[in-house]
Amino acid sequence: MKDNIKMPVHQRYIIDDYKKIASSYEKRWPEFVKETSSYVLDAWQSGNNKEDDVSVIDIGCGTGYMLQEIHNEYPKYKLTGIDISADMLDMARQNVPHAFIVEDDVSGNCGEWINIKYEMVLSINILHHIEDYIDHIKMLSSLCNSGGSIFLCDFAIDNYKMRLAEIYWRIFHKSHRRAFSTNNLRRVIDNIDEVKIISFDNLYLTKFWNLQIYHLKKL
Ligand SMILES: C[S@@+](CC[C@H](N)C(=O)[O-])C[C@H]1O[C@@H](n2cnc3c(N)ncnc32)[C@H](O)[C@@H]1O
Repeated sequence: MKDNIKMPVHQRYIIDDYKKIASSYEKRWPEFVKETSSYVLDAWQSGNNKEDDVSVIDIGCGTGYMLQEIHNEYPKYKLTGIDISADMLDMARQNVPHAFIVEDDVSGNCGEWINIKYEMVLSINILHHIEDYIDHIKMLSSLCNSGGSIFLCDFAIDNYKMRLAEIYWRIFHKSHRRAFSTNNLRRVIDNIDEVKIISFDNLYLTKFWNLQIYHLKKL
């Protein structure tokens, strides 16, 4: 970020956390990478046959693995990735050199500074860092073309292990705000008029990790 001094403290926690793990991120959580990208690509393929002229934006793109998977399948797509962590973005620039990569904070009125609309908008495992989760989903929607696809994924706090993890994260991981049970996040999405759930899955990555992932349509 250009101006670290004026940055809110929570954003500094995020930057500090990802500085520590950026170089090992994909090796530490290979199941995340594999499962989330195959859900997104399968869901996208089942609704779209466009080989080119598609713009994609990945909000909180991290190391850029999702953009890389999309590029491998659709080399003509125009890819943009945004993240607050310069360290994660260093990896993203290596992984997807052809993508437009922007270092910025996406909390607040992020939608306002981007004046084009995208056919595919991604928010993969960033929601638990965001204070205003309703605003975040509305922002994803504001970036998306009418009829376009939004993919939203985050932890699913549905069993006792994930509930314990959530308590641990809230106490010891300062960059963590909150994660949702599947029922609660579904309720949040259902109350947002601009989007409709097309499909949904629970991804059981290991005996411990559990994610919820949604394919939303922008109305
Ligand atoms: C768990 S990682 C997920 C990265 C990637 N989407 C993935 O699925 O591997 C969360 C990412 O969100 C980014 N992030 C968190 N809060 C952010 C914010 N307010 N603005 C921009 N990026 C943010 C972090 O820097 C980090 O790279």
